[in-house]
Amino acid sequence: MIKRLLLNLVSIYSLTFFVLFVARAGEAAPAPPCLPVGLRCEYLVNPLGIDSPEPRLTWRLADTRNGAKQTAYQVYVGTDSLALGKGWTSGRIDADAQLVSYTGPALQPFTTYYWRVEVWDKDNKASTSAVARFETGMGNSRNWQGAWISDGNSIDLKPAPYFRKTFSATKAIRSARAYIAAGGLYELYLNGQKIGNHRLDPMYTRFDRRTLYVTYDVTQQLQAGKNAIGVLLGNGWYNHQSTAVWYFHQAPWRARPTFCLDLRITYTDGSVETISSGKGWKTSLSPIVFNSIYTAEHYDARREQPGWNTAAFVDSTWKEVAYRAAPSTNIVAQAMHPIRNVEAIPAKRITRINDTVFVYDLGRTIAGVSQFRIKGAAGTTIRLKHAERLYPNGRVDQSNIDAHYRPVGTSDPFQTDIFILSGRGEETFMPHFNYKGFQYVEVTTSRPLALTKEALTGYFMHSDVPVVGQVTSTNPTLNKIWAATNSSYLSNLFGYPTDCPQREKNGWTGDAHIAVETGLYNFDGITIYEKWLADHRDEQQPNGVLPSIIPTGGWGYEWGNGPDWTSTIALIPWNVYLFYGDKKILADNYDNIKRYVDHITEISPTGLTTWGLGDWVPVKSKAPVELTSSIYYFTDASILANAARLLGRQADADRYVALAAKIRDAINAKYLNQTAGSYGTGIQTELSAPLHWGVVPDNLRGRIATTLANRVVADSAHIDVGLLGTKTILNALSDNGQADLAYRVAAQETFPSWGWWIKNGATTLYENWPIDAKSDISMNHIMFGEIGAWYYKGLGGIKPDPARPGFKHVLLEPHFVAGLDGFDATHEGPYGTIRSAWKRTKKGVTYSVTIPPNSTATLRLLGSGTLQQLDAGTYQFDNL
Ligand code: BGC
Repeated sequence: MIKRLLLNLVSIYSLTFFVLFVARAGEAAPAPPCLPVGLRCEYLVNPLGIDSPEPRLTWRLADTRNGAKQTAYQVYVGTDSLALGKGWTSGRIDADAQLVSYTGPALQPFTTYYWRVEVWDKDNKASTSAVARFETGMGNSRNWQGAWISDGNSIDLKPAPYFRKTFSATKAIRSARAYIAAGGLYELYLNGQKIGNHRLDPMYTRFDRRTLYVTYDVTQQLQAGKNAIGVLLGNGWYNHQSTAVWYFHQAPWRARPTFCLDLRITYTDGSVETISSGKGWKTSLSPIVFNSIYTAEHYDARREQPGWNTAAFVDSTWKEVAYRAAPSTNIVAQAMHPIRNVEAIPAKRITRINDTVFVYDLGRTIAGVSQFRIKGAAGTTIRLKHAERLYPNGRVDQSNIDAHYRPVGTSDPFQTDIFILSGRGEETFMPHFNYKGFQYVEVTTSRPLALTKEALTGYFMHSDVPVVGQVTSTNPTLNKIWAATNSSYLSNLFGYPTDCPQREKNGWTGDAHIAVETGLYNFDGITIYEKWLADHRDEQQPNGVLPSIIPTGGWGYEWGNGPDWTSTIALIPWNVYLFYGDKKILADNYDNIKRYVDHITEISPTGLTTWGLGDWVPVKSKAPVELTSSIYYFTDASILANAARLLGRQADADRYVALAAKIRDAINAKYLNQTAGSYGTGIQTELSAPLHWGVVPDNLRGRIATTLANRVVADSAHIDVGLLGTKTILNALSDNGQADLAYRVAAQETFPSWGWWIKNGATTLYENWPIDAKSDISMNHIMFGEIGAWYYKGLGGIKPDPARPGFKHVLLEPHFVAGLDGFDATHEGPYGTIRSAWKRTKKGVTYSVTIPPNSTATLRLLGSGTLQQLDAGTYQFDNL
């Protein structure tokens, strides 16, 4: 150990003399221009339907020179792309900001704004971006012209309704936009064509408080003369007909699905015509004879009405629609990455059980749907039963995921689509308004059919957030854990973060804050989290209390909603702020965080709280709930104090700094044993949580870390934690001089560990440590997923600096851990690609690092006190 330390010191010394600064290839060539690229508005590329009165504009610099930076910028916004200089401009601002809110004259609804940015580089040379655009949407609910309509049927009627309307476009069309809001889910068609590739739109919100609308450019789908609009509505979370323990069927907003649509056509002569939902539309029942977001979809192809969404269709048997109230008066643009069928996964294997039963295997666990193609006689019934595992006899086993389902009768089997053939040639089925968690599909046909492997394709569905992180290492198990973590993260991102895609699909708060860093290192998730925090605001009680699942139909205000779960209200905004350097989410939620913290204070006069579930699904030892919940309370108060300071609320800042200190003192007075250098009984979560969350007095950090390391070694370098401890155990070790041990724990392949799951074939993360546990056994849970973030932090050492967030300044502290020969992490932050990569060579370790333009880094190598300040650029350090 000491020898190692000495060696480390020697290499740190040599480092200062032998550091090699290797400029990127091409330094000798004329310096490339500093070009602003990647322009986005509200974190989306050229978005339509933006409602924000002050949309945020961001860009990056393409500038590969070492020391690249922006010294000034000027933003131009206007409605004439060729004369942007005549519109609004920020004026030249001598600043390095790459995130600017539009503050010009009030934006008009339904208007395309063009924008570009001019930047001045480190040598004060100017360059200008290409022109980007954003288009405003309704802006205000009063701008809707359409009426909310439904087919007037009862909430219990099973078939999904169709709606249609024909109209004539009398003049030449310049452009057309469709705006559609729905209670429930919709698919929109124009002249027979499905519009867009979103799935399960609009995203789930608390419908009676906030309803989302989506905007499409439909210019191409319209035609001269007669046109037809078709709308198909599904239940989603709005009209939940399946019955499970969370009472979604009793949600206060529950009603027959409804929508409101404005099709706004601009003719070449400048005139505008809006075709809207209202009387004059017609409705009929569709072949979707049952649909549940929670369980499955049943489709009777014999009821198809070919051409129902085209102008030529004769709709004389269709009925008049019914007017109804809007689900809420707050109709807001859905400005976020939509859910899509992101990845097609062909079946890997097909097993014939008998003449009418076949089992398909995708080879990996996903969230999504399967698409099935088949030819057979009319009336043939195909059942597609989805599951994550098999019984020894090869049949699918749902017993790990149907635990909380409370079916009434047998007509709504769990995760089982039912498809009845029309008999008209080859037919394809894929559910419209449902998704599932599965790897296997057991297909049962009502009469023998020859099924091929190719007949079934799985589609991995999730919010289609861009990938911003990449990790590889020389340890294949580590790589597989990383891939499994990302698969579970995405399987649980459906416009809000969920716990699992099968048994619950619930927006469990605790699972989400544990996974937020994993999410943000790997995916561009800000639009999803901003939306979900709006869901929090909709759900918060006036007294500050939040439910444990968000959104909710009402369940969750009584159970599971202590600070260890619902601190999402503080933790999510804080992490988004750290990763994006954008204060908006803190400002938007400031009052809510405050109300939340004040509520805990009211019920916890001593500074300690026992409100919470504690270290959920532990390996064996469980830390006291009071310790873990009070640590979250402390963390929330600290975040609130920081937010207050950032938002210029000094009195609040002082008040919550004092509150945080009081809570920390109360925790330490009760749980810290100074003599023993321990907390509580000295189990892993008791030690790692105070270390990770900053509760341990500075002078004792080393001792507590040593106690933790001894504890972990005594536990055979295996975890002994639950949900809350998985957040802290690896970080507490890596951040406190025990990086090698952290790696040993993370890379274990025997029980209990992440690698143990992988060795047993996992392609996603599980809900429980033993692979043969009897309860809490979903095979696609994200709650143990912090390890995905730890890779970046504990091995790559890439961290945002709270003082200059959004990776404006990067904190770099790579750990070249014993037992691992190479590691490479990249993260695409707001300024560009950050890379931290190292590999062992014959002479030591070679470390490569990239700092994006217009940002800087502080590099601390080998856990020493030696710090290097780095400007933008690419560097290589040899022989470490
Ligand atoms: C969920 C968890 C959740 C927990 C709360 C479970 O049923 O699946 O992930 O956090 O309940 O207790």
